[in-house]
Amino acid sequence: MLNNKTLSYYIETWGCQMNEEDSEKLSGMLKNIGCIRTEVKEQADIIIFNTCAVRENAELKVFGNLGALKKLKEERPDLIIALCGCMMQQKDMSETIIKKYPFVDIIFGTHNSYKFPEYLNRVRQEGKSVIEIFDKEEGIVEGIPVDRKSDIKAFVTIMYGCNNFCTYCVVPYVRGRERSRKPVEIIREIKSLVALGYKEITLLGQNVNSYGKGLEEDVDFAKLLRMVNEIEGLERIRFMTSHPKDLSLDVIYAIRDCEKICNQIHLPVQSGSSAILKKMNRSYDREQYLELVRTIKREIPDVALTTDIIVGFPGETEEDFEDTLNLVKEVEYDSAFTFIYSRRKYTPADKMEEQIDDKVKHDRFNRLIEVVNEISAKINKSYQDKVVKVLVEGKSKNDETKLMGRTTTGKLVNFVGPEDSIGNVIDVKITKALTFSLNGEAI
Ligand code: 5AD
Ligand code: SF4
Repeated sequence: MLNNKTLSYYIETWGCQMNEEDSEKLSGMLKNIGCIRTEVKEQADIIIFNTCAVRENAELKVFGNLGALKKLKEERPDLIIALCGCMMQQKDMSETIIKKYPFVDIIFGTHNSYKFPEYLNRVRQEGKSVIEIFDKEEGIVEGIPVDRKSDIKAFVTIMYGCNNFCTYCVVPYVRGRERSRKPVEIIREIKSLVALGYKEITLLGQNVNSYGKGLEEDVDFAKLLRMVNEIEGLERIRFMTSHPKDLSLDVIYAIRDCEKICNQIHLPVQSGSSAILKKMNRSYDREQYLELVRTIKREIPDVALTTDIIVGFPGETEEDFEDTLNLVKEVEYDSAFTFIYSRRKYTPADKMEEQIDDKVKHDRFNRLIEVVNEISAKINKSYQDKVVKVLVEGKSKNDETKLMGRTTTGKLVNFVGPEDSIGNVIDVKITKALTFSLNGEAI
């Protein structure tokens, strides 16, 4: 409670799981000081936008939403507007925003979000805007309360930042250098989640395979996976994201050997052309990636592979693009996040010559999606009439009479079943396969 009034807050989150996780922490801190969450923006006393900078589109959405708040702030001058996340961490961004949107009250970055309650207090007491961005990451701040969206599955960050500097990507500039949480902190957090009834955890990091570097403890990602697998009461373990250059045999064996680790690996390829991969600074070529995929499939035959792909990177020729299409056909991804290359200021790729024409980019994007979806539909069809194990997460989004959950391979299943199965792993018979999901019946 601040100044004796219970404040309500609204959080809108753009971008990746890291941002979702940061928002869960912001919400946890606000609940801790007596604020209550609302999903109705117009009614909130505090509006927080947790922003993303990975693509221009994400930034444009933030600007659009900010513009729409001007009127609300005029009607209710007490309203507190706060901006945070990756976009704020970019050079000159906070100055630009304050000039264009002077009604913003608080701006902070990715390295100091734990200070948000303090900034809120300052604004309420002093009535002046607070802008604070740390240029560099500090140590890891443990013990921040987390207000999680689900009470069945949870995300647990195991490492922050990225050292890879792919030439298109802003993440290393806005999230700082790689640093790992101590294994005892991670295990403690997961055990306390299991005690609360959580059944699935996803270990999160920009590059989970380099987990453990720089820690005093003799631990790497494979070891961590095996430690987490030992936790009693936990049903499922997922993780993301894996950089192909760092996915070791030890990790593949851990996935194969540990019964709780799901049969799914997200392995961003970005491009199927060795020349483009080189320009992207990905540190592997097409053949090395395909060899890794062959090893994974040999060791874990029922694995589901998913990926991220960028089309229209500077210099990408029709042949380079066809290499990507062919690689997608060869690997047969269960699904893929596909992106049109977006120029990001201060990244090396932004300065590269041969930027690709928008029309060509869109055309390639559409052709890629067609191939990706065709394969997804084909893989989903292979589930028809099969019985699969589903962790039941709750009611279906589009049909309240049905339940939804996921297979170990990450397939979304909407099915008819008993409500008391929520939170359990049950057998579901697949009755219909769609491109992006499966329908079924509990048996
Ligand atoms: N343009 C398009 N896509 C990008 N990604 C990262 N930076 C860019 C960019 N500048 C994609 C990558 C990454 C995913 C999270 O976002 O595919 O894996
Ligand atoms: Fe960005 Fe590459 Fe780091 Fe992923 S590995 S966050 S794409 S720089």
